[in-house]
Amino acid sequence: MKKILFVFGTRPEAIKMAPLIKEFSRFPELFQAITCITGQHRHMLDQVLAFFSITPDYDLNLMQPDQSLFDITSKGLKALEAVLEDCTPSLVFVQGDTTTAFLGALGSYYKKIKVAHLEAGLRSGNRQSPFPEEGNRIMIGHLADFHFAPTNTAQKNLAQENIRDNVYVVGNTVIDALYLGLSILKEEEATYLRFFHKLDFTKKIILVTGHRRESFGAPFENICLAIKKIAQTFEDVEVVYPVHLNPNVQGVVNRILSDQPNIHLLAPLEYPHLLWLMEKSYLVLTDSGGIQEEAPSLGKPVLVMREVTERTEGIEAGTAALVGTDRQTIVQKVTELLQDQPVYESMANAVNPYGDGTTSQQIVSLLQGIQL
Ligand code: UD1
Ligand code: UDP
Repeated sequence: MKKILFVFGTRPEAIKMAPLIKEFSRFPELFQAITCITGQHRHMLDQVLAFFSITPDYDLNLMQPDQSLFDITSKGLKALEAVLEDCTPSLVFVQGDTTTAFLGALGSYYKKIKVAHLEAGLRSGNRQSPFPEEGNRIMIGHLADFHFAPTNTAQKNLAQENIRDNVYVVGNTVIDALYLGLSILKEEEATYLRFFHKLDFTKKIILVTGHRRESFGAPFENICLAIKKIAQTFEDVEVVYPVHLNPNVQGVVNRILSDQPNIHLLAPLEYPHLLWLMEKSYLVLTDSGGIQEEAPSLGKPVLVMREVTERTEGIEAGTAALVGTDRQTIVQKVTELLQDQPVYESMANAVNPYGDGTTSQQIVSLLQGIQL
C-alpha cells in the first residue's frame, strides 16, 4: 500500500486535484489517498471541497485577510513539516503554480519525499507575469520527481530546462473535473435558473473573472473601465462577474462597476454554478488559468485579459485570444465577437487542446507500474 499525500490550498488546485483523489480512492488495496489543505483560500476552497465531498485529513488553516506572499510561505512551510513527519507519505502531489504548490514541493524535498507535479511545464517565459506563478512553477519543476504535463508544449518547455526524466503528457485534470461537474449538475436545471433569476437569459451573457496579482493597479482599473464601456454600449448584453475575494480585486471592481444595471457583481460561485453559467454564456472575458482551459470544452470563445499567457495552446488552436489589459483593445475585441458571426463561430468551434477527461485515469495507471 502506497501512501499518497495531496497538498493543495486554493480553489483551482482543489478543482484540479479532486478527480485525481477520487481516482486513487478507487484502488484502496494499492493506494491510501491522504489530503492536506493549507487553507491558503478558505471560503473559495471549502466550496469546492463540499461539492466534491472531500474531507481533508489535515487542515493548516493558513488564510489571513490580504495576506502577503511572505505570510503564506513562512507559516505554510513550518506547518507542513509537522504534517510530513506525521503522515510519512511515499509520494506528495502538488498542482500548478500557487504558493501552496511550491511549499508542498519544497517541504517534501527537504524531507526527501518524492514529489509529483500535476500540470507541469507551463511557462509564459516572463517571471513577472504571471507573478509569482511563473517563478513557482520553475522552482517546482526542478524539485519534482514526476512531471504530469498537460500538452506536448509543456513537455518541450521542461526539456528546454533539461527536465526530461519521468515526464508524462496526460492532458489536464481540469477537463476530468469539468465532465464530473457537468454530470452532477445536469439533473438540476430549475435550481440554477432560480439561483440566477436576476439575469435576463434572452440577452447575450458575458462571463467575466479577473484576479491576477501582476494586474493590480492601473491594468486592473483599465480592465474594469473596458467592462463598463462594453455594458454601456451594448444594451442586449448582460455582464456577469463573480468577484474574487481578494480585497485588491473587490475594491476596484465595486468602485467602478457597481452602478451599471446590466453588470451583475456576484460572490464567488460554487463550481457547478460557474459551469452552468459558463454553458449559458456567449463569451468569456477572463485572466483565469483554469477558465481558459475549461471554456473551449463548452464551445465558448475566451478573451484573455493578460499581456502574456502560458496557455499558448488555446491561442494556437483558436479557442482563445490574448487581449491584454488595454481598455480600447478589450472593447474592440468584444465588439468584434458580438458583431462578427464568422469570427465568433471559428472561435466557438475550435477544439480544446487541454485534454479529454481521462487524465486522472492515465496518472493512476502510470503510478501503478512505478516503484515508489
Ligand atoms: C491565489 C494564487 C493564484 C491563483 C489564485 C486562484 C498564489 C500566490 N496565488 O491568488 O496563483 O491563481 O489563488 O484564485 O498562490 N480571500 C478570501 N477568501 C478566500 C480566498 C481569498 O477572503 O476564500 C482573500 C483573502 O483576503 C486573501 C486574499 O484573498 O488574503 C488573497 O489570497 P491569496 O491566495 O494570497 O491570493 P489569490 O489572489 O487568491
Ligand atoms: N471558478 C468557480 N467559481 C467562480 C470562478 C471560478 O468555481 O466564481 C472555477 C473555474 O471554473 C475554474 C477555477 O475556478 O475551474 C479557476 O480558478 P481561479 O480563476 O481562481 O484561478 P486560476 O485558474 O486563475 O489559477
